[in-house]
Amino acid sequence: MGRFYITTPIYYINAVPHIGHAYTTVLADIIARWRRLAGDDVFFLTGLDENSTKTVEAARAHGFDDPQKYADWMAEKWKKVWEVLCISNDDFIRTTEERHRRNVQDLFLRLLERGEIYPGVYEGLYCDGCEAYVSEDELVDGKCPLHGTEPRRVREENFFFRLSAYRDALLRHIEQNPDFIIPPARRNEIVSFLQRGLKDVSVTRRGTTWGIEVPGHPDQRIWVWFDALINYLAPRDRWPADLHLIAKDILRFHCIIWPAMLMAAGHPLPKRILAHGFLTVNGRKISKSLGNVIDPVYLAEKYSPDALRYFLAREISLGQDGDFSEENLRRRLNDDLADTLGNFVHRVLTFISSRYGGRAPQGELDREFLGEVRERILEIFRLMDGFEVTRVAEEIIELARLGNEYFQRCKPWETVSGDPPAAARCLLTCLNLVGAICVLIKPFMPRTAGRLEELLSFRAERLDQALEFGIGPGHEVRRPEPLFRKVQPEQSAEAGVTIQDFQRMDIRVARVVRCERIKGSEKLLRLEVDIGGETRTIVAGIGRSYSPDDLTGKLVTVLVNIKPAKLMGVLSEGMLLAAGEDESRISLLVPDRETEPGTAVK
Ligand code: MSP
Repeated sequence: MGRFYITTPIYYINAVPHIGHAYTTVLADIIARWRRLAGDDVFFLTGLDENSTKTVEAARAHGFDDPQKYADWMAEKWKKVWEVLCISNDDFIRTTEERHRRNVQDLFLRLLERGEIYPGVYEGLYCDGCEAYVSEDELVDGKCPLHGTEPRRVREENFFFRLSAYRDALLRHIEQNPDFIIPPARRNEIVSFLQRGLKDVSVTRRGTTWGIEVPGHPDQRIWVWFDALINYLAPRDRWPADLHLIAKDILRFHCIIWPAMLMAAGHPLPKRILAHGFLTVNGRKISKSLGNVIDPVYLAEKYSPDALRYFLAREISLGQDGDFSEENLRRRLNDDLADTLGNFVHRVLTFISSRYGGRAPQGELDREFLGEVRERILEIFRLMDGFEVTRVAEEIIELARLGNEYFQRCKPWETVSGDPPAAARCLLTCLNLVGAICVLIKPFMPRTAGRLEELLSFRAERLDQALEFGIGPGHEVRRPEPLFRKVQPEQSAEAGVTIQDFQRMDIRVARVVRCERIKGSEKLLRLEVDIGGETRTIVAGIGRSYSPDDLTGKLVTVLVNIKPAKLMGVLSEGMLLAAGEDESRISLLVPDRETEPGTAVK
């Protein structure tokens, strides 16, 4: 029995998980479940990165005085989401836990003793979004390419990690272990970055009271990335990890800083780092300010966790960027799951129930057909060894398609009276294919596999069962309910907005009568606006782009019939229309000539 230790990134807690976080965690879960089924002793770790300054800001914005209380509250929310998505993690690490603090301080001291960490002065740029120092040449138009914000200039006396000393060792390791970073495009990215040379990195911060203390220097905290990466050492007896699953955004931290830290400490390196691509929504980055944050719980509840899991695995080619669309989710559910997989299972089990009294017929297996099935399953095993989750999902549905074709070709509904042995052979063979599929889908769709196990009176416990075709004549099966229900296409923005859709929105010109900042938030303004004989209170997140003085007396446009929502304890009864992603450069949509408040926007 092999051992297999797999991790996800530990996520920031400034918000609840969106579909992008769910994507990584679901992929990791599929791999973890697969390896368990393959007989490995698996350890699957996920968790939260709580020591970031983002936590302090988010706590404040949510009205918490104590960031730790906020972190505890958020941790429960994250855990619940993973439960809904059937995530089978063995541990959940939070970086505010004592076990983690100890590990981080121990490693810090170890590197300090070895001279790998040394005191120095840092002068340069810092991006708050990345929680990292950035160099001029990484910027695009003076801004961080990931966050679109200008980094701050800082000068600090703190501790440095001798990262520059590890360039050659890292290059050598990557060369000798071609699978260390996958897919190859990501490895090449890291190699060319390393070839340009490395600078030492500052690993402590001043001026913050949140985070893990530098031992012996209570005025300094350990840099959140140095801290966060060490979470992976939590299950001590499991190290080194067999697989770190991440997205491409945090590649350098995982493929350069982390291995260098481990080398410096004399620890073994993780076996592999797999970086997947980024999910977009309608081609755009997922972000709160764009309002395109997709809630995985909403989707799981609307369609089923299994449909969402399958969709994430199948739709976005692992390693590539991919666009999320609910329409595509519905299409996959209808075509792949209901029409192909569900249909195959249904016709086989229904036929056995109605024609053979619910027992597998007395007959022989079609060895030739199952030989082809076997080859395909072996190919699936090979693909999964290379973590080709998307291809595996595709190939499993292909097996069901093959089953449907075979059933169609054999025409058992005709042969059952004309050539009973042929019909029996077809059904026994199909039933065994259903059994194999039940094993193979289990890591992807654990609930569906569970229902299928009941229908088949069969337990999918080992991957090898998929190759055994061990369901013999007389085996009892149940009459099935459909495994998946098809969904109708929704009238949605993707299908085109009708004029009636647009007219449901009551958008009006309004005048700002009063405006003030909301205490405790840099971003939120409280406005009172005249929408034509009626005054409404609106909370708008434009405080980084406009001051109350800019707005008082100004004409604006307001969506009036949006459902009221409470923000920082203030009920907002409308939404200002504005353009822009960058919180500090939002542009309000305003009428370009004097217009009466209350005038409809059409
Ligand atoms: N806290 C750090 C990670 C520390 S790991 C030692 C962090 N957190 S994060 O909350 O920003 O999560 C980043 C990770 O979330 C990505 O690497 C990826 O796994 C996942 N994703 C977040 N948004 C995503 C998409 N839009 N698309 C795909 N994955 C996404 O960085």
